[in-house]
Amino acid sequence: MDINNTLLKDVSILYVEDDETIRENLFNFLSRRFRSVYTAQNGEEGLELFKDKLPDIVITDIQMPVMDGLRMAEEIKKISGDTPVIITTAFGDVPYLMKAIELEIDGYLQKPIRYEKLFDTVCKFAARRKMEEELLKAKKLESIGILAAGIAHDFNNLLTPILGHISLAKTSLAPDDKIYKNLDAAEKASFMAKDLVQRFMVFAKGGETVKMVISIKELIKEASIFLPNSNAECEFHIAEDLRSVEADSGQIFQTIHNIVINACEAMPDGGIVSISAENIVIGKKDNLSLEDGMYVKISVRDRGIGIPENLLPKIFDPYFTTKGMDSRKGTGLGLATAYSIVKRHGGYISVESEAGVGTVFHIYLRAV
Ligand SMILES: Nc1ncnc2c1ncn2[C@@H]1O[C@H](COP(=O)(O)OP(=O)(O)O)[C@@H](O)[C@H]1O
Ligand SMILES: [Mg+2]
Repeated sequence: MDINNTLLKDVSILYVEDDETIRENLFNFLSRRFRSVYTAQNGEEGLELFKDKLPDIVITDIQMPVMDGLRMAEEIKKISGDTPVIITTAFGDVPYLMKAIELEIDGYLQKPIRYEKLFDTVCKFAARRKMEEELLKAKKLESIGILAAGIAHDFNNLLTPILGHISLAKTSLAPDDKIYKNLDAAEKASFMAKDLVQRFMVFAKGGETVKMVISIKELIKEASIFLPNSNAECEFHIAEDLRSVEADSGQIFQTIHNIVINACEAMPDGGIVSISAENIVIGKKDNLSLEDGMYVKISVRDRGIGIPENLLPKIFDPYFTTKGMDSRKGTGLGLATAYSIVKRHGGYISVESEAGVGTVFHIYLRAV
């Protein structure tokens, strides 16, 4: 399966069981292996917790006081039909099983629960869920890409005559003419609009990918140096013998640029953005969704505001931004673009972050 263990760990589970001993034992087992485990002692409590935490997977006993597991499952399925519900069943539960089938319960664990089986079952559903999320992400990017490409194309066609006419009008005026200055301002704005269109095109994969064998040592520096209105400074640690990659230089430039800009924006009072690049060998044990082989790994680290854990899964979504859409900086397309470019190059992009501490993005590109 193309999903690595770190991803599987990143799953949240609700476990509902009225027997305190069983509940605590299972909690101990699960919470050592998965990111978040919530427990409840009956269906009613479980349902409340479900609404509050929206866990990825629900595991529940059937017979419990106040509200039984199947009634809870019924309510959960109404709220989120996709959330897998696994029931733990004992011999005495047989009369309930018809109802369970009717509810389309996703999985069954026989009591007394074998931990190995429990672990396998949770992993199976976690993997499925992560795969669905990845697919959804890819689909979302694709449909937005189609829209963006259409708009960008038409808009670009409109900008060509606008810029042409401004340029023509300028030639018939003296540079100190007041109207010349107005035209100059209009021209600058139009170039900015062209730039925006270009960004859309790259994101929308409409911008063709022209892959060539390139050395990215200089490219990394160039992409990091042009940082308007930033108090932050870049520091480079680039391996002397950094391998070349087969890539579209414009797109890789944009990817690094977007990530470095974010790093600077995360440190409004200034600070150091540390950019490193090295050759690494990826093998099975690395648990990355990458084929084995030699890669160039570029890391961009800041000591900025960081990203709260609950926002981490969203940052690559198109239009996700915490910066306010009105300003020119917050379009929420920076990381979505980076993600789609890196994916198009058969690479991988990952992030580690802690709120208040800082963030590091890693980009892996296949070396040649
Ligand atoms: N280095 C970083 N530090 C803190 N937050 C970040 C960092 N990089 C990205 N983010 C978060 O991810 C969001 C999306 O980033 P991006 O796609 O570049 O859009 P934008 O920068 O336009 O908001 C940002 O709004 C921010 O919340
Ligand atoms: Mg950005």
